[in-house]
Amino acid sequence: MDLEKLLSDRLAPAFAAVAGGPVDPLVRRSGRADFQSDAALALARRLGRPPRDIAGAVLAHAVLDDIGVSAEVSGPGFINLTLADRALADLVAGLAGDARLGVPSTATPQTVVVDYSAPNVAKEMHVGHLRSTVIGDAAVRLLTWLGHRVVRVNHLGDWGTPFGMLIEHLIDLGEAEAAQHLSMGDLDTFYRAARVKFDEDEAFRERSRLRVVALQGGDERTRRLWRLLVTQSERYFLTVYDLLDVGLSGDDFRGESAYNHLLAGVVDDLDRLGLLRPSGGAECVFPPGFTGRDGAPLPLIVRKSDGGYGYPATDLAALRQRVGELGATRLLYVVGLPQRQHFAMVFAVAEAAGWLRPPVRAEHLGFGSILGADGRMLRSRAGESVKLVGLLEEAVARATDLARSRNPDLDAEAAAEIGRAVGIGAIKYADLSVDRTKDYVLDWERMLALDGNTAPYLQYAYARIRSVLRRAGTAAQPDAPIVLARPDAPIVFAQPAERALAVELLGFAGVVGEVERSLELHQLAGYLHRLATAFSAFYERCPVLRASDELRESRLLLAGLTARTLRQGLDLLGIRTLARM
Ligand code: ARG
Repeated sequence: MDLEKLLSDRLAPAFAAVAGGPVDPLVRRSGRADFQSDAALALARRLGRPPRDIAGAVLAHAVLDDIGVSAEVSGPGFINLTLADRALADLVAGLAGDARLGVPSTATPQTVVVDYSAPNVAKEMHVGHLRSTVIGDAAVRLLTWLGHRVVRVNHLGDWGTPFGMLIEHLIDLGEAEAAQHLSMGDLDTFYRAARVKFDEDEAFRERSRLRVVALQGGDERTRRLWRLLVTQSERYFLTVYDLLDVGLSGDDFRGESAYNHLLAGVVDDLDRLGLLRPSGGAECVFPPGFTGRDGAPLPLIVRKSDGGYGYPATDLAALRQRVGELGATRLLYVVGLPQRQHFAMVFAVAEAAGWLRPPVRAEHLGFGSILGADGRMLRSRAGESVKLVGLLEEAVARATDLARSRNPDLDAEAAAEIGRAVGIGAIKYADLSVDRTKDYVLDWERMLALDGNTAPYLQYAYARIRSVLRRAGTAAQPDAPIVLARPDAPIVFAQPAERALAVELLGFAGVVGEVERSLELHQLAGYLHRLATAFSAFYERCPVLRASDELRESRLLLAGLTARTLRQGLDLLGIRTLARM
């Protein structure tokens, strides 16, 4: 149940009657009441009427008391909305009895293709792939939980001219030796060595060129060696996913090469549709509205002057396949913002060709960079891109040390478990809690801190509630949903902090619904942080275990519901909770 939406729905007709047309009532949480509507202020100028008058007229029309809401005009023209305790208690009791915490499964399931992670064969994953993997995984989890059919696609970079030199280098090294290097995750050394030879050795360059031709021509030995490169890299990426605790598996790899057989058809069809223009020896589409700095129309190159197809043609083929064969109605691409124009142009061309049309929607979920403490792109001390595995291992090691220093009695196994959940959780949360389009600074101290908008703060709030519930004797299994002794006991609001927590708990459904549309995962993170903060305030002022019977049950219920909501919310973000920390 989405309270803000319910209140909006109730106020909207009243506003429409007063304004003579549709108005968004702009309902939000309020410091003065439970909620407030600010729309009267915005309307004042248009209607030429004082905002307080408008607010009063709206309230004369609005039907609210049947849902236990009282309203009053306040300040310059806000409408303050307050839920009766009884109504609030009933709503919270409803949540407590609902396995989905008030979040319904979608009534309109979609097939959603999520294109994410997408590292490149024989190249180290970099922090951009980390962001894509973490954001994509959270999107997959959220949409799946809401009942959509979600197809994960790992659009591996496994094709293109660099494979000529990579295969030649593999031949030089010998297969066994090369496989060894690659499976050790020493991808960058491998790639760089090939690159150096390519740049410096004319004969190697020529061999590489011939090798690309052989690869494209389907030469059997070349194909086998290429497969070897791909398989070894995939194996390595899977170990990273495992460490990162994301749900990508071997079945989700669908590399660029998978679309080869469709590329000629894409170009032919664009030609038939009259969309193709030759330019500088290449075949291009000039989608309307895209111009370069000099004002000249920008081409999307679908066939290069050497006759080969590239990245854009592959994305067009993939889009067509996702809509046509997979039946996708929503296409998500979790890729860094530097590729914004690429996707805008691919979508524009697909629309012009009629391959992408309503109700099917394509969205580029672009994201910013991870910066080092110096505010510049994160780099290793040697100035190279930071190796992802090293970053993840450092997070786990730091979190394990912190856990041990806080609790010296922890045995090694428990410390390792906490270190992993907290370290990886902290990395993911640092990423998911900021507006995805923004850059952010990787700051170990801050992201591992037990206070602030961090994963450890939320995990700790959860563990603390578990401990209260354990002491109350209500939690059976460490990981089972929390069942209270008297789930139908009445909820009491003796203190404002209890009420505030209850209102916060009711906000979960609204936030999840909003994130389903926007995929702004930081909204969910921000909500969980507000919830945990409301819980802390509650826990400070409202003794639970020492309270009298009725109050104790009521507070246990609020605490238990908070734990479940935190756990579910963190789970949607791909972050683990721990029963003890
Ligand atoms: N492999 C690409 C890279 O590392 C990302 C691919 C993103 N997905 C896509 N459909 N183009 O930049």
